[in-house]
Amino acid sequence: MKELIQKLPKAELHLHIEGTLEPELMFTLAQKNNIVIPYKTIEEVKHAYNFTSLQSFLDIYYAGANVLITESDFFDLTWAYLLTCKAQNVLHVEIFFDPQTHTQRGISFKTVVDGITQALQKGEIELGISSFLIMCFLRHLSEEEAFKTLQESLLFKDKILGVGLDSSEVGHPPSKFERVFAACENVGYKIVAHAGEEGDSSYIWEAINLLHVKRIDHGIRCDEDATLVEFLIEKQIPLTVCPLSNVKLRAVSSMREHNIINLLRKGVLVTINSDDPAYFGGYINENYEAVANSLHVSQEELKTLAQNSFKASFLSEVQKQHFSQMIA
Ligand code: HPA
Ligand code: ZN
Repeated sequence: MKELIQKLPKAELHLHIEGTLEPELMFTLAQKNNIVIPYKTIEEVKHAYNFTSLQSFLDIYYAGANVLITESDFFDLTWAYLLTCKAQNVLHVEIFFDPQTHTQRGISFKTVVDGITQALQKGEIELGISSFLIMCFLRHLSEEEAFKTLQESLLFKDKILGVGLDSSEVGHPPSKFERVFAACENVGYKIVAHAGEEGDSSYIWEAINLLHVKRIDHGIRCDEDATLVEFLIEKQIPLTVCPLSNVKLRAVSSMREHNIINLLRKGVLVTINSDDPAYFGGYINENYEAVANSLHVSQEELKTLAQNSFKASFLSEVQKQHFSQMIA
């Protein structure tokens, strides 16, 4: 299985670039930029990365992002992630970034976008990895803040394909951002949103009906509503599932209890992704392996999951065909 997973051409559709900050790079940047972080050793980091919920993770994750200051920091972060993609045969990536995490602490939107996109361009040329960038709004912030960020993003619209919604889910339903997402749709951004990770199935319905998403990020609580599952199958609305993340943040109790393969067998367009690999103990192949080792998955099903990753992407139909044909 491990060999097949390594060989499979894959796309990654749910990846927060801030979540690829490995402790070694965090230490290096903290020292370079004179930023105080709450750990000195890898042992202390491992101890701190013992999450009990989405919020307990987010607190640590935002603290880590404080070490990212200059354009070259964002470049180095993104480049390191692309090298892991190359090593794991990931041929296409659609990367989330959280501009508000950085603009709130005085880092300009331009610094963030330029650093990331320069690495993505180098990745296309030198590694042959195609990529899109998706900007996420932090759902714990206000609608007004989101509108401000949308406005700022328009200067960089040629570099940003779409918008998403992340951060603390419960208490911040998609309906809070209905008007912002309508404005995003108007300017031509593709739309996705995190929903149904910790929030219940009503968050998924709202993301579909009010935000007009093309994909749901996580979406694993869809199976609490049979009508919703039927709808996802009928419309082939993809779910970008992140198995290791779901177990680490206790959205599911163990990998053996994960519903991804049940959903796949019912006909839901599920994909496997890594979310925040530096925090959850694995990149995309480790996520495939964790599922394969715990859930009796056949080789054909692993291939279908890889096929789905291209099918669910924002690539053109021609590009989707091209990648899908590589999976025999
Ligand atoms: N959920 C919500 N917000 C996030 C996540 C996630 O899985 N990862 C990074 N920000
Ligand atoms: Zn996520």
